[in-house]
Amino acid sequence: AEVVIVPSAAEAGEIAADAIAAQVSSRADSVLGLATGSTPLTTWKALAALSLDLSRVRGFALDEYVGLPAGHPENYRSVITREVVEPLGLTPSLVRVPGDDGPAQGAGERYEDAIVAAGGVDLQILGIGRTGHIGFNEPGSSLASLTRVKTLTQQTRIDNARFFPSLEDVPTHCITQGLGTILRARHLVLLAFGSAKAAAVAAALEGAVSAGTPGSVVQLHPRVTVILDEDAAADLE
Ligand code: F6R
Repeated sequence: AEVVIVPSAAEAGEIAADAIAAQVSSRADSVLGLATGSTPLTTWKALAALSLDLSRVRGFALDEYVGLPAGHPENYRSVITREVVEPLGLTPSLVRVPGDDGPAQGAGERYEDAIVAAGGVDLQILGIGRTGHIGFNEPGSSLASLTRVKTLTQQTRIDNARFFPSLEDVPTHCITQGLGTILRARHLVLLAFGSAKAAAVAAALEGAVSAGTPGSVVQLHPRVTVILDEDAAADLE
C-alpha cells in the first residue's frame, strides 16, 4: 500500500478528494464505494469545494443497519443522502445502499449483482473501526465474504452509540459488503484519524492477513492508498 501521513484530517480529505476527482475526470459515470461514519467527512467537504459535476457518478454504500425504519436519520441511506448525495450533487437514484431494494432475504446477492452490473467499483472509500472492521466486517469475517447480514460487535455498537439517544437504540445487525466485495474494487482509499485507530491501522497494514484482522485484506489488494493523520499512524513500524 501507498501510505501517506499528513498533519490533519482536513489535509487527508483533500488528498482523498483529489483521488476521487481524478477518477471522475477519467469517466463521468465512475462508480464510487461510499463509507459512512465520521472518517469520510473531510473528504466529502474537500470534494464539495472542488465544485465538480458529479451528477453521473454512481455510488454503492458499504453497509446499512438492519431494523431502522426507512426515514430514520441514522439509517445509512439517510446519512448518505444528507452527507454525500445532497452536498455533492449526486443523483439520488444512482446511489445504492445494501438492502434498499426489498427484503433482507436475498438482498446481499442482489447488491452483488447490482455492483457487477455497474461494472464494479472504481474507487472505494474506507474507514476502519477500532475492532479492525472495514465495512461492518467484524473480526471473524471470511476473507472471501460477499454482501450479507451480520451481527455488530458490542464494541462497534458502543462506538456508534454517539449517533443514537442510547446504546439500546443502536441496531444489533447490519447488512454489509463483504471483504471479498471490497477487494473487487479497483482502487481502495483507506482513511483513519486519531489515536483510537492506531492499533487497528498497524494491525491492518503490518499484521498477519487473517479473518481476525478484517482490515488486513488491504494487503491482498494491488492498489491501495492509505491516508492517516500522525496519531492514527503512531503504531506503524
Ligand atoms: C461505515 C463503515 C465503518 C466505518 C468505521 C469507522 O460505512 O463501513 O467501517 O468506516 O466504523 O467509523 P468512523 O469513521 O465513524 O470512525
